[in-house]
Amino acid sequence: MPRIALIPGDGIGKEVVREARRVLEVVSEAEKAGVACDELAYGAERFLRDGVTITDDEFAAIESEYDAVLLGALGDPRVPSNQHAKDILLGMRFRLDLYVNFRPCSLLAPELSPLSRDLSGLRLEIFRENTEGEYTGMGGSLRKHTADEVALEENIATRMGVERIVTAAFEYARAQRRTRVTLVDKSNVMRHVGGLWRRVFEEVGETFPEIERDAMYVDAMAMDLVRRPERYQVLVASNLFGDIISDLAAEITGGLGLAPSANIHPGKHALFEPVHGSAPDIAGTRTANPLGAIRCVGLLLDHLGHPEAGARVEAAAVASFQAGCRTPDLGGDASTEDVGTWIVEHLQSDYANG
Ligand code: NAD
Ligand code: IPM
Ligand code: MN
Repeated sequence: MPRIALIPGDGIGKEVVREARRVLEVVSEAEKAGVACDELAYGAERFLRDGVTITDDEFAAIESEYDAVLLGALGDPRVPSNQHAKDILLGMRFRLDLYVNFRPCSLLAPELSPLSRDLSGLRLEIFRENTEGEYTGMGGSLRKHTADEVALEENIATRMGVERIVTAAFEYARAQRRTRVTLVDKSNVMRHVGGLWRRVFEEVGETFPEIERDAMYVDAMAMDLVRRPERYQVLVASNLFGDIISDLAAEITGGLGLAPSANIHPGKHALFEPVHGSAPDIAGTRTANPLGAIRCVGLLLDHLGHPEAGARVEAAAVASFQAGCRTPDLGGDASTEDVGTWIVEHLQSDYANG
């Protein structure tokens, strides 16, 4: 029986995971998949109350007892250091070596894009390196809180780390019959790290001769993703650049509220989370869009070996939107729970009709 660790986290994370859980349970029942969910209350509340973010034993349990994790979001204005998010979210990415951060962005309906041109069918898939770059915490401060303060935040790239994410992007492109992979970097300025990425990208790319490859500097990419996003298919980027362009790609395909992501070590561990954060500006207003989290359930089912069930969830998410059941970010007045209920009921009748 697959066991899933649910970590709702903070702010709207709790609100969207509640709906995602209902969807997962309905599908699990209909598929007789026997998915069991345990809710783990890691987040700002616990940190503020007990001073604990996540313990070594809890990490060990996540590693050994669960088939996957579904996380809402971590981030709370009362924790300006963001310490708990670093410990819990980055902790899982690093300790479980979830080196692929897969962020698919597809335009579900042409009117969802804020861009004025018809971008029907637009699909961008971002492969974000998830264990290196500026995220390792390597660095430090000298003479802190003085006028002579020095701060360092190292940008780490290893050949192994770059090679495995670039390979994952090309393998995905081959499997999905995508015809282009684009590297996003800043190798005109960051000669050392950028140079390594470019060399590895060429070496790996040569072994996928049927796939076109090109490279863009990240600043030009930010511009081009607005100007002609349809030119791009699969993008591969370092941790920080992948973080930034995935918010941009999510926005041009309908908004952050719709975007799911998978953090994966292929064959080992997986953590699913919407791309968005805890959105303190709308937390508690019942207006958060749960579709990013619900689409994570689709990715999770796919990962657990139920691709047809995953496709049903994705189709139900699209259907909810088309039926006009939309949260305010999509121009509607439905609540988070309304959207969850619509999808649950749609899936129930979908399964009842075979
Ligand atoms: P955010 O993604 O939380 O919000 C950005 C904007 O998008 C806000 O205006 C918000 O209202 C809107 N938005 C986000 N998700 C939405 C949804 N589902 N429905 C409707 N609107 C939505 O980014 P932020 O404001 O920069 O960050 C808030 C906190 O979340 C910070 O503490 C940050 O560190 C954290 N964060 C966590 C994660 C994560 O846990 N994976 C990801 C990003 C940010
Ligand atoms: C994301 C978030 C995280 C990141 C933060 C909350 C640590 O922005 O998942 O995109 O930077 O990776
Ligand atoms: Mn982000």
